[in-house]
Amino acid sequence: ALVTSKEMFQKAYEGGYAIGAFNVNNMEIIQGITEAAADLRAPLILQVSSGARKYANHTYLTKLVEAAIIETNLPICLHLDHGDSFELCKSCIDGGFTSVMIDGSHHSFQENIELTKRVVEYAHDHGVTVEGELGRLAGIEDDVNVSDEDSSYTQPEEVEEFVSKTGVDSLAIAIGTSHGAFKFKPGTDPELRFDILDEVSKRLPGFPIVLHGASSVPQDFVAKINQYGGNMPGAIGIPEEQLRQAARSAVCKINIDSDLRLAMTSSVREYFAENPAHFDPRQYLKPARSAIKDMVAHKIVNVLGCDHKA
Ligand code: G3H
Ligand code: 13P
Ligand code: NA
Ligand code: ZN
Repeated sequence: ALVTSKEMFQKAYEGGYAIGAFNVNNMEIIQGITEAAADLRAPLILQVSSGARKYANHTYLTKLVEAAIIETNLPICLHLDHGDSFELCKSCIDGGFTSVMIDGSHHSFQENIELTKRVVEYAHDHGVTVEGELGRLAGIEDDVNVSDEDSSYTQPEEVEEFVSKTGVDSLAIAIGTSHGAFKFKPGTDPELRFDILDEVSKRLPGFPIVLHGASSVPQDFVAKINQYGGNMPGAIGIPEEQLRQAARSAVCKINIDSDLRLAMTSSVREYFAENPAHFDPRQYLKPARSAIKDMVAHKIVNVLGCDHKA
């Protein structure tokens, strides 16, 4: 069934695991993810960014997710990733999404509260859950000094006021993760700020926390991409043990997009290199879909711990 994140998060919090939130934008990606989750009976969040919604069209995406629910009989939450306005959130709520993120993290604290509260009121009136965000995810391109870097992490002293004033159902925090396939400068030790996560969860007992930018950037995919004509030197992600540790804590949702892209791209590059005469898209998309399925199955069992929880 198409479900909100409410019950998923409650069970995940109590069970010491996390739900995988995978970004989707086409049929093969949706099939690869949901086939893995179906085999392992894992609850699932499929999320759509505004760019993905522009690319694939709202109706196509919701109908593909409906098809996946029919085929797998899994509880699936359909979530808007990084909603940047009330209007976008409203459009997704009206169009059948069961959860939305309003990302007001680039606004001031007060403006973030006001925007988020407005989305929560509309969403809750329509039975939809809402994720808010406090703090800014680091970007490796930003040439930040230490004090700037500190100010972009979530400030634990803000979280109670934000959650109580907005009524959000979950909170995304910044503890050193970042979006994309280049999360740390090569040679640096990737370390998440678990002290900030601990302080946040102490202040919000029982409340679900969300990790964005949580791809692990598997090095076998990067190597394959670089071997078969790609150019992604120094691509690096969050070590899986740190994600596993986060999943055992108050973190109930772990966002993964880059790893899907890497699985698909490494497979397609390898296929083209080895079969230069082939031109039927089914021939190269089939192994790409399998690569996604295998990667997601690995995450579910070894990182998220959400297998057999559906
Ligand atoms: O948070 C970013 C997600 O990976 C979505 O990326 O905006 O390119 O669809 P996108
Ligand atoms: P990655 O780029 O680490 O996969 O993060 C995805 C994400 O946070 C989507 O909101
Ligand atoms: Na958890
Ligand atoms: Zn994100």
